[in-house]
Amino acid sequence: MNITLEQPAHAGAIEALLDTSFGPKRNKKTVYRLRRNVAPIADLSFVAIDTDAAGQEQVVASIRYWPILLGGTTPALLLGPIAVAEAWRSQGLGGRLIRHSLARAAELGHAIVILVGDAPYYVRFGFSREKTLALALPGPVDPARFLGLELVPGALDGVTGMVGRVSRSKAGRTPHPGQQTPPLAHPLPATAGVTADAVAAITPLAVHEDGRPADLDAAAPSGGGRRRLRRAAR
Ligand SMILES: CC(C)(COP(=O)(O)OP(=O)(O)OC[C@H]1O[C@@H](n2cnc3c(N)ncnc32)[C@H](O)[C@@H]1OP(=O)(O)O)[C@@H](O)C(=O)NCCC(=O)NCCS
Repeated sequence: MNITLEQPAHAGAIEALLDTSFGPKRNKKTVYRLRRNVAPIADLSFVAIDTDAAGQEQVVASIRYWPILLGGTTPALLLGPIAVAEAWRSQGLGGRLIRHSLARAAELGHAIVILVGDAPYYVRFGFSREKTLALALPGPVDPARFLGLELVPGALDGVTGMVGRVSRSKAGRTPHPGQQTPPLAHPLPATAGVTADAVAAITPLAVHEDGRPADLDAAAPSGGGRRRLRRAAR
C-alpha cells in the first residue's frame, strides 16, 4: 500500500470511488459550487494504492484540496472530498491521508483549511466549528458541519465573509501557495510562517528517499477485504 500523489490515470477510479462513497448526487452539494471549473491542487491530491499479488494496482482512497478565497481576499484550502473504499475503512487510512496532506499543506505555506463534514470525525485533526463562525458558504449546509483549521495560529483572526471560488482565470494568473513547489522534504522543517507547534500537531507519513510517500502495510485489509475489492473491481 502506497500513498502517492494523484496522477491523471487515477481520475476514473477516483470518480468511481466518490460515486460509491457519496452517491451520484454529490455534485449538487454546496461545496461543489466552490470547485466548479477549478482544478484540485495537484500537490495536495493524494491517493492510496493497493497492489495485489498479481501486481495489479487499485485506488483504494483519495483526498483532494481546492483553492478558495475567504471574504474575497484571504486564500485558503477547501478539504475534500476524502473517501476510503469500504473494505479499507476504520484501519487508519483516512486519518493518515488527512495528516499527511495537512502536513504537506503546512509545509507549502498554506495557513487555513475549511471543510464541510462530520465534526465527530474531523475534530481529531484539530478542525472546529468555532473557526468558521465569521464565515458563510454560498449555499445551504448544516452549520455544525462547517469546520475550519488554522495551520498558522491566528490565520483566521479577523477573517470574515463569504467563502468563494477562485475563478479559473485568477487561478491561472496567481499561483495559490503550494501550486509550484519543491518536493516534500522529510522530516518536515518548521518553515517560515508555520510554527513548530502547528507542524508537530500533524504527524506526517514517512516518505521514501525519492519523495514517494511510505509504505502503509499496517493499513492493509484482511484477505477477505482484498477479495471483495477485487470482485467489485471486475
Ligand atoms: C470518513 C472516511 C474517509 C474515514 O476513513 P477511515 O479510513 O475509515 O478513517 P480512520 O480509519 O482514520 O478512522 C476511523 C474512525 O473514524 C470514525 N469515523 C469514520 N467516519 C466517521 C464519521 N463520518 N463521523 C464520525 N466518525 C467517523 C470511525 O468510526 C472510526 O472510529 P474508531 O477509530 O473509533 O473505530 C471513510 O469512512 C469514508 O470514506 N466514508 C465515506 C465518505 C465520507 O463520508 N467522507 C467524509 C465526508 S465527511
